Amino acid sequence: MAMSLSNKTLAAVEALMMTLALATTAAGQPTTAAANLTLHNLCPYPVWPLVTANAGVPSVPTDADGEPAGRLDGNGEGLATLAFPPGAWSGRVVARTGCAIEGDGGGEEIVGRCATGDAPPVTVAQVSVGGPGGRAAYSVSLVDGFNVAAVVTPHGFAEGRRCPTLGCAVDLAAECPVGARGPHGGCGGGGASSEAAWFKARCPDARTNATDVEATPQDCVAPREIKVVFCPKPDSVTSHASELD
Ligand SMILES: *[C@@H]1O[C@H](CO)[C@@H](O)[C@H](O)[C@H]1NC(C)=O
Ligand SMILES: *[C@@H]1O[C@H](CO)[C@@H](O)[C@H](O)[C@H]1NC(C)=O
Repeated sequence: MAMSLSNKTLAAVEALMMTLALATTAAGQPTTAAANLTLHNLCPYPVWPLVTANAGVPSVPTDADGEPAGRLDGNGEGLATLAFPPGAWSGRVVARTGCAIEGDGGGEEIVGRCATGDAPPVTVAQVSVGGPGGRAAYSVSLVDGFNVAAVVTPHGFAEGRRCPTLGCAVDLAAECPVGARGPHGGCGGGGASSEAAWFKARCPDARTNATDVEATPQDCVAPREIKVVFCPKPDSVTSHASELD
């Protein structure tokens, strides 16, 4: 008796799982291969990128060799290719600088405290892929200030879609007003609207508050690769700074 009840329960669970699986398929998960996240460091110094998945989505912890992205050497030498997990993914990428390295006694390097990037001011690249119909969306946020110039560039996207290079290619730390400088580098992060306006004038293709959008519109579907470049060439973004005095 107990046996047959248990079998009935199992059958019910199986039916429910089948329904859920069908619902997921009907919701239109893209059938395309999962995209890659490429990180490239053109800064004249090393960075330690940190890729953080939003709540409820799997992390992107390793590169093709199964290694953490770890330290990316400067001047273009540091290049890491990570694979987004299949399905919908969203999260953020930051570049930490001046990190202390602590051994764990087993030959592994552990990234300790960093001069910038652990806390504001920090430049945050936000990326989502695998949305409805394969939609991707991305931005570079200066809401928490600026530590490293960064742009996001999709490659291999669906024809006829707009996937422009967006972000802030200007070294805002170098020209940061004295009162807005971070204690160990970087600029801003205090949330003042004057600060946001100063950022926006120099980086119109970055976001400076919760409702801000880029000067250049995006409409991106199914990129094969999303590339985040640290310290990109100044002319790599689409919209440029207005005339500044
Ligand atoms: C992602 O990168 C890997 C390794 O470089 C490559 O084999 C694969 O084809 C790439 N995936 C896509 C969707 O381009
Ligand atoms: C957000 O930033 C934009 C662009 O600088 C600005 O036009 C808008 O007024 C800002 N919104 C708020 C709520 O500060």
